[in-house]
Amino acid sequence: PVLVVDFGAQYAQLIARRVREAKVYSEIVPHSMPVAEMLARDPAAIILSGGPSSVYAPGAPQVDPKLFDAGVPIFGICYGFQAMAQALGGTVAHTGGREFGGTALSPTADGGVLLRELPAELSVWMSHGDCVTEAPAGFAVTAASAGAPVAAFEDLAGRRAGVQFHPEVGHTTHGQTMLTRFLYDVAGIEPTWTPSNIIDEQVAAIRAQVGEKEVICGLSGGVDSAVAAALVHRAVGDQLTCVFVDHGLLRSGEAEQVEQDYVAATGIKLKVVDAADRFLGALAGVTDPEQKRKIIGREFIRVFEAAAREVAAAGDVEFLVQGTLYPDVVESGGGTGTANIKSHHNVGGLPDDLKFALVEPLRTLFKDEVRALGVELGLPEEMVWRHPFPGPGLAIRIIGSVDRERLDLLRAADLIAREELTASGLDRDVWQFPVVLLADVRSVGVQGDGRSYGHPVVLRPVSSEDAMTADWSRLPYDLIGRISTRITNEVPEVNRVVLDVTSKPPGTIEWE
Ligand code: XMP
Repeated sequence: PVLVVDFGAQYAQLIARRVREAKVYSEIVPHSMPVAEMLARDPAAIILSGGPSSVYAPGAPQVDPKLFDAGVPIFGICYGFQAMAQALGGTVAHTGGREFGGTALSPTADGGVLLRELPAELSVWMSHGDCVTEAPAGFAVTAASAGAPVAAFEDLAGRRAGVQFHPEVGHTTHGQTMLTRFLYDVAGIEPTWTPSNIIDEQVAAIRAQVGEKEVICGLSGGVDSAVAAALVHRAVGDQLTCVFVDHGLLRSGEAEQVEQDYVAATGIKLKVVDAADRFLGALAGVTDPEQKRKIIGREFIRVFEAAAREVAAAGDVEFLVQGTLYPDVVESGGGTGTANIKSHHNVGGLPDDLKFALVEPLRTLFKDEVRALGVELGLPEEMVWRHPFPGPGLAIRIIGSVDRERLDLLRAADLIAREELTASGLDRDVWQFPVVLLADVRSVGVQGDGRSYGHPVVLRPVSSEDAMTADWSRLPYDLIGRISTRITNEVPEVNRVVLDVTSKPPGTIEWE
């Protein structure tokens, strides 16, 4: 792998993603990892990420100089660039030349390998206090900016390079080109990290782990569990049984998509549990959001557990598939082992006497890679590009108590919003597009020649990178207008459509 050494800023994951976009496998490791341990992973290259604004900042992490003696190609970015300069005998100085944000970069006439034939003036993203004033011996300086006399350097014989700016962010023009040139032309790495290679590797790994044993997987209808199950199925075929719990809180067509399209595309053995009565019974009359979530979580575990017992009783089930992604692994501290579990938050706490080992074929992948695998595995487009949808489903998009009638009404309005968004080609421009029914609110309207007294629905289209923060999507007014007209015409109980223009924070994406 290419190791991205994380110096504690938020850039390491982004760098790792960009490296993979260049079709090179990358992993993030903490800066506290001893050099011997890094080298034991046989890295194709090491990238030192951004971090504090200066190597002189209080508590700035040190780079062990042994790292530079190992003959491994190294790329220093921002803080990593300064740390590299300092460790190799260059000069890092307090010049007061601070630069933050978009900055003009001037490559030298030659530009070196990284900047060769790029425009004479580039806009790059800077974030530094101190700067490198002298490159280490053997390094050619290939660019400067107003606040950084040495803004890029390279030593081709030593297969080392560095830049003061952030090539991984979208604000740096040609940043991906520079990163790719480091990987291919400086480090000499071949681009082999492709969906079909990932599938081959994962299939081999799953076969080795599972052997002849049986595997169970809970499908949520979301892209992660769908792709994880499809991979496991590719590896071990009918040793896999999937369980899909239909809690009656799904959107129009979603259960059918799993039961028909997904099975048709994969040939997976699927056990569908129709538990709508049970969930709706337990939710009757409940209006408090937290209580709704608790009830749904509890019922989900009971239903899944019963189904898992049935499947387990029929065969030799030892493994449970989880759609854990790489960002979850990095955020929870990184380990690589698979542990025996008693409970897991994704499927809820399974009881002690149902012990499964986990199969997590997406543990090394980012979301965009999961989607690419889904496409390569032949899953339906609508499933691969499905927007995130909360586990408690439409229950937390009905403000008030939940019943069949209200669910049908919300489903009809939601379907119209989705149809119109898709028809306008903007599906991939929004992160999510909840439609919320204010079931306990009524307002007066006029429909035909009579007075109406119906419910409002709220349109909540948002854009986001990771759902931690979000902004309301500026969808075209005529699209919003079409959705409004169709909903009020086609869903008689709804006589008003409103648009939520709140960012997160302070609002959350969902209303409950
Ligand atoms: P909020 O509303 O907190 O949502 O801004 C952030 C993201 O999480 C989803 N969400 C959930 N997903 N179970 C889930 O699986 C839940 O209980 C849940 N609540 C919110 C929400 O759709 C958004 O993507």
